[in-house]
Amino acid sequence: MAKAKTAYVCAACGAEHSRWQGQCAGCSEWNTLSEIVLRPALKSVGASRSGYAGARDPARVTPLASVVAEAEQRSASGIGELDRVLGGGLVPGSVVLIGGDPGIGKSTLLLQMLGAIGQRMKSLYVTGEESLAQVAARGQRLGIALEGLEALAETSIERILAEAAEGRPEVLIIDSIQTIWTELLTAAPGSVSQVRESAARLVRFAKETGTTVFLVGHVTKEGGIAGPRVLEHMVDAVLYFEGESGSRFRVLRAFKNRFGAVNELGVFAMSDKGLREVPNPSAIFLSAHAGPTPGSAVMVTREGTRPLLVEVQALVDQSSLGNPRRVALGLEQNRLAMLLAVLHRHGGAAVYDQDVFVNVVGGIRVQETAADLPVLIAVLSSFRDRPLPDKTVAFGEVGLSGEIRPVPNGEERLREAAQHGFRRAVVPKANAPKKARIGDLEILAVERLGDALAAAFDR
Ligand code: TYD
Ligand code: MG
Repeated sequence: MAKAKTAYVCAACGAEHSRWQGQCAGCSEWNTLSEIVLRPALKSVGASRSGYAGARDPARVTPLASVVAEAEQRSASGIGELDRVLGGGLVPGSVVLIGGDPGIGKSTLLLQMLGAIGQRMKSLYVTGEESLAQVAARGQRLGIALEGLEALAETSIERILAEAAEGRPEVLIIDSIQTIWTELLTAAPGSVSQVRESAARLVRFAKETGTTVFLVGHVTKEGGIAGPRVLEHMVDAVLYFEGESGSRFRVLRAFKNRFGAVNELGVFAMSDKGLREVPNPSAIFLSAHAGPTPGSAVMVTREGTRPLLVEVQALVDQSSLGNPRRVALGLEQNRLAMLLAVLHRHGGAAVYDQDVFVNVVGGIRVQETAADLPVLIAVLSSFRDRPLPDKTVAFGEVGLSGEIRPVPNGEERLREAAQHGFRRAVVPKANAPKKARIGDLEILAVERLGDALAAAFDR
């Protein structure tokens, strides 16, 4: 293949340079240049399989109604929780990025998916990290029927695409995108330009052939996919694996999905036979305390389409620092700072000279504002060293003026709490049903933070 023309583009301002330099001449930022391949250098790989006519006749206006029938042809992955996160199954021609810490179970999940798909769809597993022997051994340990599954140990994108164009898999897995490189660029594999260029070629391949492509991506210390954020813009769906290394539960979350809802969760448990689905996850994020413990509160969150009971723990301790620490794990740091200010102003508890640590049990990340009230209850409980009455739950958004604001699907959350044997629920007034109880669950409707804290600790 002829050497393609390359250029260097600044990640900050987009200026293009013909040579690498440490500082961008356009915006004066340092170390922002990365190499790219200039188009049009390449011919498309593989012929059209799905009758995709765009390549031949790109500028044809089409009535949308005639396109609808073609759009929604999904096939089940064979793993219910994965289908749920994908929005109903595999979409032909889509590219799905699966990110997560090393060792969290990305390779395991995808191999299990291939096992579940089995003979229904032709698949190809490309491994750039493990040897074929390691992949096969894992497959055997997972109890997957290996007949009919094909694997390729390869890292050159040119050779991968040549194999794929020849073998015509319907599902192509690249494990991982950080190991893949193109001969067109001189940068090292794993560098931003290599990852971006390889991914772009795979995206094009998926669109042209109707292949469903899964890319495995490693996560950096900062929590993004190593290398480029641009990867997230190029693909159709981004799924992240979350979970604590100490916990066996794994949560798969859709951050972006062109074919389904975002923030939908799939829950798995890692066992010696691989990942098991947890179709009823509502109570797995509660820790088993012997009795009431200061600094612990249970909230009912609703991530995706299911309510979940999740424990939040706080530790408030006299600080020896001029600038006390605020650490939030599983929650947003800025929101915690804001909530502590509201607690001071409207809840009558001054924690400005205290270190505050807040942690969501089980490694799950809670993004909705319904966590506000339970977080403050846990903080106050630790601050006063006073446990909450047994079997108490809470949810609700806390506003800057100390008001407790309603959250979506209040009744569903209350029913879930009642079902799991909770006895008291502190909830926004606008979320409370007309009756004061649901089953054995007593509902304490509150409008102001002060009342909410009083109700939570009152016996
Ligand atoms: P893996 O899928 O290799 O992670 P990733 O591809 O995200 O880096 O997961 C490996 C981890 O899972 C490893 O720590 C061992 C554990 N594991 C099990 O506990 N049981 C199993 O059956 C398998 C296959 C892995
Ligand atoms: Mg892996």
